[in-house]
Amino acid sequence: MAEANIPSLIQARYGPTTSSGITHAAAAIRNSTVETLLQHRSVRHFLPDKLPEGSLEIIIAAAQSAATSSNLQTWSVVVLDDGNKDEVADLCGNQDFIRKAPLFLVFCADLDRLTKVSAQHELRGEGLEYTDMFLMASLDAALAGQNATIAAEALGLGTCYVGAARNRPLELAQLLRLPPRVIAVFGLAIGWPDPAKPTAVKPRLPQKEVLHKGTWRVDGRQADNLAEYDFTLASFNAGEKREGVPAWTHRSAERIEKVESLHGRHVLKDALQQTGFKLR
Ligand SMILES: Cc1cc2nc3c(=O)[nH]c(=O)nc-3n(C[C@H](O)[C@H](O)[C@H](O)COP(=O)(O)O)c2cc1C
Repeated sequence: MAEANIPSLIQARYGPTTSSGITHAAAAIRNSTVETLLQHRSVRHFLPDKLPEGSLEIIIAAAQSAATSSNLQTWSVVVLDDGNKDEVADLCGNQDFIRKAPLFLVFCADLDRLTKVSAQHELRGEGLEYTDMFLMASLDAALAGQNATIAAEALGLGTCYVGAARNRPLELAQLLRLPPRVIAVFGLAIGWPDPAKPTAVKPRLPQKEVLHKGTWRVDGRQADNLAEYDFTLASFNAGEKREGVPAWTHRSAERIEKVESLHGRHVLKDALQQTGFKLR
Protein backbone atom coordinates (compact mmCIF):
# COMPACT_ATOMS: atom_id res chain seq x y z
CA MET A 1 0.00 0.00 0.00
CA ALA A 2 1.12 3.56 -0.68
CA GLU A 3 2.68 5.45 2.21
CA ALA A 4 -0.14 6.96 4.26
CA ASN A 5 0.31 10.64 3.60
CA ILE A 6 -2.32 12.87 2.09
CA PRO A 7 -0.77 13.47 -1.37
CA SER A 8 -0.15 9.75 -2.01
CA LEU A 9 -3.59 8.83 -0.67
CA ILE A 10 -5.25 11.42 -2.90
CA GLN A 11 -3.31 10.07 -5.87
CA ALA A 12 -4.54 6.56 -5.03
CA ARG A 13 -8.11 7.87 -4.77
CA TYR A 14 -8.02 9.13 -8.35
CA GLY A 15 -5.79 6.38 -9.73
CA PRO A 16 -2.20 6.49 -10.99
CA THR A 17 -3.18 7.62 -14.50
CA THR A 18 -5.22 10.65 -13.41
CA SER A 19 -3.62 13.88 -12.24
CA SER A 20 -4.81 14.38 -8.67
CA GLY A 21 -4.33 18.11 -9.23
CA ILE A 22 -3.21 18.40 -5.62
CA THR A 23 -1.78 21.81 -4.78
CA HIS A 24 1.30 22.49 -2.64
CA ALA A 25 -1.00 23.90 0.04
CA ALA A 26 -3.07 20.70 0.20
CA ALA A 27 0.05 18.52 0.09
CA ALA A 28 1.40 20.27 3.18
CA ILE A 29 -1.59 19.27 5.32
CA ARG A 30 -1.19 16.35 7.73
CA ASN A 31 -4.25 14.93 9.48
CA SER A 32 -4.96 11.40 10.62
CA THR A 33 -8.77 11.72 10.29
CA VAL A 34 -8.46 12.78 6.66
CA GLU A 35 -5.98 9.95 6.10
CA THR A 36 -8.55 7.47 7.45
CA LEU A 37 -11.22 8.90 5.11
CA LEU A 38 -8.96 8.76 2.07
CA GLN A 39 -8.08 5.12 2.74
CA HIS A 40 -11.69 3.89 2.71
CA ARG A 41 -12.40 0.73 0.80
CA SER A 42 -15.34 -1.68 1.21
CA VAL A 43 -14.38 -4.96 2.87
CA ARG A 44 -16.30 -8.12 1.97
CA HIS A 45 -13.94 -10.72 3.45
CA PHE A 46 -13.85 -10.90 7.23
CA LEU A 47 -11.97 -12.95 9.79
CA PRO A 48 -14.27 -14.88 12.13
CA ASP A 49 -12.78 -13.06 15.17
CA LYS A 50 -15.13 -11.11 17.38
CA LEU A 51 -14.75 -7.37 17.74
CA PRO A 52 -13.00 -6.05 20.86
CA GLU A 53 -15.36 -5.53 23.77
CA GLY A 54 -16.67 -1.98 23.81
CA SER A 55 -16.28 -1.38 20.09
CA LEU A 56 -20.02 -1.54 19.42
CA GLU A 57 -20.65 1.20 22.00
CA ILE A 58 -17.92 3.36 20.48
CA ILE A 59 -19.25 2.85 16.95
CA ILE A 60 -22.83 3.71 18.00
CA ALA A 61 -21.69 6.75 20.00
CA ALA A 62 -19.81 7.93 16.89
CA ALA A 63 -22.98 7.32 14.83
CA GLN A 64 -25.02 9.37 17.30
CA SER A 65 -22.42 12.13 17.13
CA ALA A 66 -23.38 12.90 13.53
CA ALA A 67 -25.35 16.04 12.87
CA THR A 68 -29.10 15.40 12.78
CA SER A 69 -31.79 17.56 11.26
CA SER A 70 -33.36 19.84 13.94
CA ASN A 71 -31.88 17.39 16.52
CA LEU A 72 -34.89 15.17 15.77
CA GLN A 73 -32.66 12.05 15.60
CA THR A 74 -35.03 10.25 13.27
CA TRP A 75 -33.06 7.01 12.99
CA SER A 76 -32.47 3.81 14.93
CA VAL A 77 -30.25 0.81 14.39
CA VAL A 78 -30.79 -2.91 14.88
CA VAL A 79 -27.62 -4.80 15.77
CA LEU A 80 -27.22 -8.39 14.67
CA ASP A 81 -24.36 -10.58 15.77
CA ASP A 82 -23.49 -14.21 15.20
CA GLY A 83 -26.79 -15.82 16.18
CA ASN A 84 -29.30 -14.09 13.99
CA LYS A 85 -27.66 -12.85 10.81
CA ASP A 86 -28.39 -15.70 8.41
CA GLU A 87 -32.04 -14.92 7.71
CA VAL A 88 -31.22 -11.25 7.39
CA ALA A 89 -28.47 -12.11 4.89
CA ASP A 90 -31.01 -14.13 2.88
CA LEU A 91 -33.27 -11.07 2.66
CA CYS A 92 -30.36 -8.73 1.84
CA GLY A 93 -29.47 -10.16 -1.57
CA ASN A 94 -28.16 -13.40 -0.06
CA GLN A 95 -24.74 -11.78 0.32
CA ASP A 96 -22.47 -14.20 2.15
CA PHE A 97 -20.21 -11.56 3.69
CA ILE A 98 -23.16 -10.53 5.87
CA ARG A 99 -23.19 -14.04 7.39
CA LYS A 100 -19.43 -13.94 7.89
CA ALA A 101 -19.21 -10.46 9.41
CA PRO A 102 -19.16 -10.60 13.22
CA LEU A 103 -21.44 -7.58 13.32
CA PHE A 104 -24.24 -6.41 11.05
CA LEU A 105 -26.02 -3.13 11.73
CA VAL A 106 -29.37 -2.36 10.12
CA PHE A 107 -29.84 1.40 9.98
CA CYS A 108 -33.49 2.43 9.95
CA ALA A 109 -35.36 5.61 9.15
CA ASP A 110 -37.43 5.96 12.33
CA LEU A 111 -40.54 8.14 12.52
CA ASP A 112 -42.10 5.91 15.21
CA ARG A 113 -40.37 7.78 18.04
CA LEU A 114 -41.75 11.14 16.89
CA THR A 115 -45.19 9.59 16.39
CA LYS A 116 -45.12 8.70 20.09
CA VAL A 117 -43.72 12.09 21.08
CA SER A 118 -46.61 13.74 19.22
CA ALA A 119 -49.13 11.54 21.04
CA GLN A 120 -47.44 12.26 24.38
CA HIS A 121 -48.07 15.98 23.84
CA GLU A 122 -51.46 15.43 22.23
CA LEU A 123 -50.29 17.02 18.99
CA ARG A 124 -51.15 15.91 15.47
CA GLY A 125 -47.74 15.04 14.04
CA GLU A 126 -49.02 16.08 10.61
CA GLY A 127 -45.48 16.74 9.38
CA LEU A 128 -44.68 13.04 9.70
CA GLU A 129 -46.94 12.31 6.73
CA TYR A 130 -44.82 14.19 4.22
CA THR A 131 -42.10 12.89 1.91
CA ASP A 132 -39.56 15.31 3.32
CA MET A 133 -39.72 13.59 6.71
CA PHE A 134 -38.79 10.26 5.13
CA LEU A 135 -35.95 11.97 3.28
CA MET A 136 -34.87 13.66 6.53
CA ALA A 137 -34.90 10.33 8.40
CA SER A 138 -32.94 8.65 5.59
CA LEU A 139 -30.38 11.47 5.59
CA ASP A 140 -30.03 11.24 9.37
CA ALA A 141 -29.55 7.46 9.11
CA ALA A 142 -26.98 7.88 6.33
CA LEU A 143 -24.95 10.42 8.29
CA ALA A 144 -25.05 8.14 11.34
CA GLY A 145 -24.01 5.17 9.21
CA GLN A 146 -21.09 7.06 7.71
CA ASN A 147 -19.90 8.14 11.17
CA ALA A 148 -20.13 4.49 12.26
CA THR A 149 -18.11 3.53 9.18
CA ILE A 150 -15.39 6.07 9.88
CA ALA A 151 -15.19 5.06 13.55
CA ALA A 152 -14.92 1.38 12.61
CA GLU A 153 -12.23 2.09 10.01
CA ALA A 154 -10.32 4.27 12.47
CA LEU A 155 -10.29 1.25 14.81
CA GLY A 156 -8.76 -0.86 12.04
CA LEU A 157 -12.01 -2.65 11.18
CA GLY A 158 -13.45 -3.11 7.71
CA THR A 159 -17.00 -2.30 6.64
CA CYS A 160 -19.39 -2.76 3.77
CA TYR A 161 -22.69 -0.99 3.30
CA VAL A 162 -25.65 -3.10 2.22
CA GLY A 163 -28.26 -1.27 0.17
CA ALA A 164 -29.80 -4.68 -0.47
CA ALA A 165 -31.48 -4.19 2.91
CA ARG A 166 -34.16 -2.46 0.80
CA ASN A 167 -34.65 -5.42 -1.57
CA ARG A 168 -37.38 -7.05 0.51
CA PRO A 169 -38.35 -4.28 2.92
CA LEU A 170 -41.57 -5.73 4.32
CA GLU A 171 -40.08 -9.16 5.03
CA LEU A 172 -37.08 -7.57 6.71
CA ALA A 173 -39.38 -5.32 8.75
CA GLN A 174 -41.33 -8.38 9.88
CA LEU A 175 -38.21 -10.37 10.74
CA LEU A 176 -36.74 -7.51 12.77
CA ARG A 177 -40.17 -6.67 14.24
CA LEU A 178 -39.95 -3.07 13.16
CA PRO A 179 -42.92 -0.97 14.27
CA PRO A 180 -44.97 1.12 11.80
CA ARG A 181 -43.09 4.14 10.42
CA VAL A 182 -39.71 2.40 10.79
CA ILE A 183 -37.94 0.99 7.74
CA ALA A 184 -34.45 -0.35 7.06
CA VAL A 185 -32.61 1.97 4.69
CA PHE A 186 -29.24 0.17 4.60
CA GLY A 187 -27.12 -2.35 6.43
CA LEU A 188 -23.49 -2.12 7.51
CA ALA A 189 -21.31 -5.21 7.86
CA ILE A 190 -18.36 -4.73 10.22
CA GLY A 191 -15.44 -7.00 11.06
CA TRP A 192 -11.71 -7.53 10.92
CA PRO A 193 -10.56 -7.51 7.29
CA ASP A 194 -9.12 -10.86 6.17
CA PRO A 195 -5.47 -10.03 5.34
CA ALA A 196 -5.40 -12.94 2.86
CA LYS A 197 -8.00 -11.11 0.74
CA PRO A 198 -7.04 -7.45 0.86
CA THR A 199 -9.15 -4.82 -0.88
CA ALA A 200 -7.63 -1.93 -2.78
CA VAL A 201 -8.71 1.70 -2.73
CA LYS A 202 -11.10 2.12 -5.66
CA PRO A 203 -10.50 5.24 -7.75
CA ARG A 204 -13.30 7.76 -8.05
CA LEU A 205 -14.39 10.10 -10.84
CA PRO A 206 -11.89 12.89 -11.48
CA GLN A 207 -12.51 15.74 -9.04
CA LYS A 208 -13.08 18.15 -11.95
CA GLU A 209 -16.13 16.07 -12.93
CA VAL A 210 -17.99 16.37 -9.63
CA LEU A 211 -16.87 19.84 -8.53
CA HIS A 212 -18.78 22.88 -9.79
CA LYS A 213 -17.58 26.29 -8.66
CA GLY A 214 -20.25 28.95 -8.20
CA THR A 215 -22.61 27.70 -10.87
CA TRP A 216 -23.09 24.40 -12.66
CA ARG A 217 -20.19 24.00 -15.08
CA VAL A 218 -21.01 23.28 -18.72
CA ASP A 219 -17.62 23.17 -20.40
CA GLY A 220 -18.19 20.30 -22.83
CA ARG A 221 -15.58 18.21 -21.02
CA GLN A 222 -17.89 15.70 -19.35
CA ALA A 223 -17.47 13.09 -22.08
CA ASP A 224 -13.66 13.39 -21.74
CA ASN A 225 -13.88 13.16 -17.94
CA LEU A 226 -16.01 10.01 -18.16
CA ALA A 227 -13.73 8.44 -20.78
CA GLU A 228 -10.79 9.21 -18.49
CA TYR A 229 -12.57 7.46 -15.61
CA ASP A 230 -13.49 4.46 -17.76
CA PHE A 231 -9.76 4.11 -18.48
CA THR A 232 -8.75 4.60 -14.83
CA LEU A 233 -11.23 2.02 -13.55
CA ALA A 234 -10.35 -0.46 -16.31
CA SER A 235 -6.68 -0.21 -15.22
CA PHE A 236 -7.77 -0.68 -11.61
CA ASN A 237 -9.83 -3.77 -12.46
CA ALA A 238 -6.97 -5.22 -14.51
CA GLY A 239 -4.66 -4.69 -11.50
CA GLU A 240 -7.22 -6.51 -9.33
CA LYS A 241 -7.33 -9.38 -11.88
CA ARG A 242 -11.01 -8.73 -12.52
CA GLU A 243 -11.58 -9.86 -16.08
CA GLY A 244 -14.43 -8.83 -18.33
CA VAL A 245 -15.82 -6.02 -16.18
CA PRO A 246 -17.59 -3.55 -18.48
CA ALA A 247 -16.46 0.07 -18.51
CA TRP A 248 -17.86 2.18 -15.65
CA THR A 249 -20.16 4.16 -17.96
CA HIS A 250 -21.48 0.94 -19.49
CA ARG A 251 -21.89 -0.80 -16.14
CA SER A 252 -23.63 2.21 -14.60
CA ALA A 253 -26.02 2.51 -17.56
CA GLU A 254 -26.81 -1.20 -17.23
CA ARG A 255 -27.37 -0.79 -13.48
CA ILE A 256 -30.26 1.57 -14.19
CA GLU A 257 -31.47 0.17 -17.47
CA LYS A 258 -34.58 -1.68 -16.36
CA VAL A 259 -36.76 -2.19 -13.36
CA GLU A 260 -35.27 -5.66 -12.69
CA SER A 261 -31.94 -4.02 -11.91
CA LEU A 262 -33.57 -2.52 -8.82
CA HIS A 263 -33.71 -6.05 -7.32
CA GLY A 264 -37.18 -5.57 -5.86
CA ARG A 265 -36.70 -1.99 -4.73
CA HIS A 266 -39.20 -0.68 -7.29
CA VAL A 267 -41.93 -1.44 -4.74
CA LEU A 268 -40.31 0.68 -2.04
CA LYS A 269 -42.89 3.45 -2.26
CA ASP A 270 -45.72 0.93 -1.70
CA ALA A 271 -43.80 -0.72 1.14
CA LEU A 272 -43.23 2.66 2.79
CA GLN A 273 -46.90 3.54 2.51
CA GLN A 274 -47.87 0.16 3.96
CA THR A 275 -45.60 0.74 6.93
CA GLY A 276 -47.14 4.13 7.64
CA PHE A 277 -44.92 6.56 5.71
CA LYS A 278 -47.59 8.44 3.79
CA LEU A 279 -45.13 10.29 1.47
CA ARG A 280 -47.51 13.19 0.78
C1 LIG B 1 -25.78 2.94 0.31
C2 LIG B 1 -24.80 1.89 -0.18
C3 LIG B 1 -25.25 0.61 -0.42
C4 LIG B 1 -24.35 -0.40 -0.81
N1 LIG B 1 -24.81 -1.69 -0.95
C5 LIG B 1 -23.93 -2.67 -1.21
C6 LIG B 1 -24.38 -4.03 -1.24
O1 LIG B 1 -25.56 -4.34 -1.03
N2 LIG B 1 -23.45 -5.00 -1.48
C7 LIG B 1 -22.13 -4.69 -1.68
O2 LIG B 1 -21.33 -5.63 -1.89
N3 LIG B 1 -21.67 -3.42 -1.64
C8 LIG B 1 -22.54 -2.41 -1.40
N4 LIG B 1 -22.10 -1.11 -1.32
C9 LIG B 1 -20.66 -0.81 -1.49
C10 LIG B 1 -20.38 -0.15 -2.83
O3 LIG B 1 -20.45 -1.13 -3.85
C11 LIG B 1 -18.98 0.48 -2.76
O4 LIG B 1 -18.97 1.49 -1.80
C12 LIG B 1 -18.56 1.06 -4.11
O5 LIG B 1 -18.39 0.06 -5.07
C13 LIG B 1 -17.24 1.82 -3.98
O6 LIG B 1 -16.22 0.95 -3.51
P1 LIG B 1 -15.43 1.27 -2.17
O7 LIG B 1 -16.41 1.44 -1.05
O8 LIG B 1 -14.51 0.10 -1.95
O9 LIG B 1 -14.65 2.53 -2.41
C14 LIG B 1 -22.98 -0.09 -0.98
C15 LIG B 1 -22.55 1.23 -0.76
C16 LIG B 1 -23.43 2.20 -0.36
C17 LIG B 1 -22.94 3.60 -0.09
